[in-house]
Formats: sequence, C-alpha cells, structure tokens
Amino acid sequence: AIKGVIFDLDGVITDTAEFHYRAWQDLGEKIGITFDRAFNENLKGISRMDSLNLILEHGNKADDYSDAEKEALATDKNDDYKTLIEEITPTDILPGIQTFLDACIAKGMKLALASASKNGPAILDRLELTDYFEVTVDPASLKNGKPDPEIFLKAAKLLHLEPFECIGVEDAEAGIQSINAAGMFSVGVGSPESMKEADIFVENTQELDLEKIINKYKKMR
Ligand code: G6P
Ligand code: MG
Repeated sequence: AIKGVIFDLDGVITDTAEFHYRAWQDLGEKIGITFDRAFNENLKGISRMDSLNLILEHGNKADDYSDAEKEALATDKNDDYKTLIEEITPTDILPGIQTFLDACIAKGMKLALASASKNGPAILDRLELTDYFEVTVDPASLKNGKPDPEIFLKAAKLLHLEPFECIGVEDAEAGIQSINAAGMFSVGVGSPESMKEADIFVENTQELDLEKIINKYKKMR
C-alpha cells in the first residue's frame, strides 16, 4: 500500500514555476539572452546554479562569466524571485491540492516535500501548509539534483519508508525521472508530451484523484 506521498513544490503545490520563469527571463534580458517556455521546461526542477548554467549555454555565453560573477547573477535572480513570492497567500494553493493533501492524510499517508528550492520552506509557510508535511528535504544537503533519485530517496528515508511504499508528485520531466529512478510510482502534472515517463498523469492539479492513483499503483505492483 502507499504509505508516503512525496511532493515537489514549484508547479505542483503552487504556481511558483511561473515566478521562476519570470525571474529568469528578467535576468536573461539584463544579459542579452532570450528563451521561451519550451526551453523553460528544461529548467523545471533544476537547481539555481545549474539553471543559470543552462541559460548561459543556451545564449552561448557559458565562458563569459567567472564563478563570482555567476554567483552574483544567481543572487540577482533570487532577489527578484523573493520579491515575487512575498505576495503569496493561501489563496495561491493550486486548485485541488488542499483536497488532495487532505485525502492523503485521511488515508493515513505521511507527506514529505522534495523541492530543489531553497525558498521551499518559506513558501510552505506563506501557504500555511507547513504542518501537513512530516519532513522537508534540505536541498543544500544533496550531492545530486533531479533527475538523480537522491532527493526522493532521502525523503523516503526521512519518512522511514521504503521507496516502493512511496509515490512522488512532479511537474518537471527531471522530477519524474528522479521519482522513477528512485523506484517509486510517479504522478505527473503537465502536458502529455512532458509527462510521458510518468506512471500516471493529469493535465492540471484539479484532476489529481487519490483513488485513481491508488488503483493504478495496485495494478503495477
Ligand atoms: C525548483 C524549481 C526550479 C528552481 C529550483 C531552485 O526545483 O523547479 O525552477 O531553480 O527549485 O530554486 P531556488 O528557489 O533555490 O532558486
Ligand atoms: Mg516543479
């Protein structure tokens, strides 16, 4: 049976994926690099510095900046992002998520947060959802980011559960790959194209249905 549900944050619990996109675009404008939503899919679930490196490569500017300059660019983006998330309130919880969290709790499942974002705990607080989560993985404690399974494996461990007893919920391709590589059942939120590796997917959070997920999980075991 499913005993643990491990959630990504940005783009699953609240629409901060959009804020990350805006903040990176603003930074791109400052340094003369443009990119679209299709390229942005590659940044979802990816750490701040790795995202910056991908953007610089995309603009053929990977060798133009020293490490110290890159740190400054990443800080600039994060300052911008932090201003955007200051406005977050519980009304910004994505549709269906509160119901889904309650359904998981009602089934006795334990919840964990597996976000690559260092801003994750502050966002959960702003959404007033901190108490739902038994554990939050500290992304600073990880060697490898998504698509490596480390973050989901660590969440399972902190919940004292085996990977096969857990499911992961993600909106990023790298995130789905991370869940699958951890040996967990993967639940995707996104387009059919970006979620083709997920064990089950919905196009938006409103459609998350715990009973359907449990049924599909059972069929696959
Ligand atoms: C999540 C988001 C990424 C973001 C990363 C780091 O994985 O999907 O877009 O780059 O967190 O976030 P941070 O808030 O630490 O810059
Ligand atoms: Mg995400």
